[in-house]
Amino acid sequence: MGSATYEWMLRHVVGPEAREPQPWPYAQPTWVFTSRELSGVAGADIRFVRGDVEPVHKEMVAAARGKNVWLVGGGELVGQFYDRGLLDDLFVQIGSVTLGSGKPLLPRAIVNPPLRLVSAGAAGTGFVELHYEVQCQATKGRR
Ligand SMILES: NC(=O)c1ccc[n+]([C@@H]2O[C@H](COP(=O)([O-])OP(=O)(O)OC[C@H]3O[C@@H](n4cnc5c(N)ncnc54)[C@H](OP(=O)(O)O)[C@@H]3O)[C@@H](O)[C@H]2O)c1
Repeated sequence: MGSATYEWMLRHVVGPEAREPQPWPYAQPTWVFTSRELSGVAGADIRFVRGDVEPVHKEMVAAARGKNVWLVGGGELVGQFYDRGLLDDLFVQIGSVTLGSGKPLLPRAIVNPPLRLVSAGAAGTGFVELHYEVQCQATKGRR
């Protein structure tokens, strides 16, 4: 995850300023991309990294030992993995609230080849989840 997402979790989930502070929710190691010196969370395996995503991707794949690697976001960080051909699938949950403006979800033009829709399904009463596969890019397969 990027540092904005990490700091959001500190503010809203872990605390100390969270309304109902909870433990760090992930048992698996977490890599946080930042150019700054940030504090970790006691007892959590959080690794601060910066720069090129490719060497970090290698570390994550080794740690995952055959399991999937989850990129939480934000979108520009996911785009950095896309640029390197290191993005396989996108799972997008769309909520039932519309906004008049905002940030691009994934600030890249992915048109040729386009994303391939694998599935679409209702998630609860307010969300739909879309699963897209990233089709072969020129740089893909360098894993
Ligand atoms: N709904 C969801 O599932 C979901 C998922 C993810 C994010 N979000 C939300 O989206 C919002 C913000 O997302 P965002 O796109 O602004 O932020 P983000 O990706 O969480 O963080 C962006 C920051 O990460 C650092 N960073 C990114 N790539 C880096 C690299 N290669 N090397 C070093 N540092 C790097 C930079 O900050 P510094 O260098 O200054 O630290 C950058 O400004 C947050 O409110 C978050 O909660 C929602």
